[in-house]
Amino acid sequence: MKPLIAPSILSADFARLGEEVDAVLNAGADVVHFDVMDNHYVPNLTIGPMVCKALRDYGIEAPIDVHLMVKPVDRIIPDFAEAGASIITFHPEASDHVDRTLQLIHEQGCQAGLVLNPATPLHYLDHVMDKVDVILLMSVNPGFGGQSFIPSTLDKLRAVRKRIKASGRDIRLEVDGGVKVSNIGEIAEAGADMFVAGSAIFNADDYASVIRTMRDEIAA
Ligand code: DX5
Ligand code: ZN
Repeated sequence: MKPLIAPSILSADFARLGEEVDAVLNAGADVVHFDVMDNHYVPNLTIGPMVCKALRDYGIEAPIDVHLMVKPVDRIIPDFAEAGASIITFHPEASDHVDRTLQLIHEQGCQAGLVLNPATPLHYLDHVMDKVDVILLMSVNPGFGGQSFIPSTLDKLRAVRKRIKASGRDIRLEVDGGVKVSNIGEIAEAGADMFVAGSAIFNADDYASVIRTMRDEIAA
């Protein structure tokens, strides 16, 4: 599958969010990564369905990848589907009924995925490989942008890539946290095919040049 670059808008200038999202898409990004934090499941508070809808109303047509760092999970899912989410991922520890939550996301017409924190074991995937469209491995502890990539994620990516191959399904393997030009090559080699990058893109002056260099590194 074509590698996808998904800038995390957590590091964008929120006062100019529509323009910022337009700018990264014009700079070559594929997907908008939308971090939802509730100051309960994670120690930070960000944005909700209203902001997702505002981006759609502004004219953003690219897929919006909603990363839910909230607990409980289910109640907010229909609101995000209604607001224009394309993909909705959640942390299995934050859901009482993981299978039901996956089903709910699909019923709402979105693609569904599980997010595994750095210390969350892969066995959460055991009985859902036929039900996930995306598996997102956190390469930092969720809550903040600008943290350093945790190297043990590379082995975890290799293990999940094997599971995806064995499943015979086209499941996206997404990685989130500390992804930069300097490490994206080895992350791709370990099996990721969807790359979230917040600070590495939004803290740069030239978004297009960072995204282009990331693609070159992935292909190298
Ligand atoms: C962290 C978020 C990430 C974060 C990535 O909880 O899920 O999406 O914004 O930011 P960087 O790329 O700066 O690590
Ligand atoms: Zn995220």
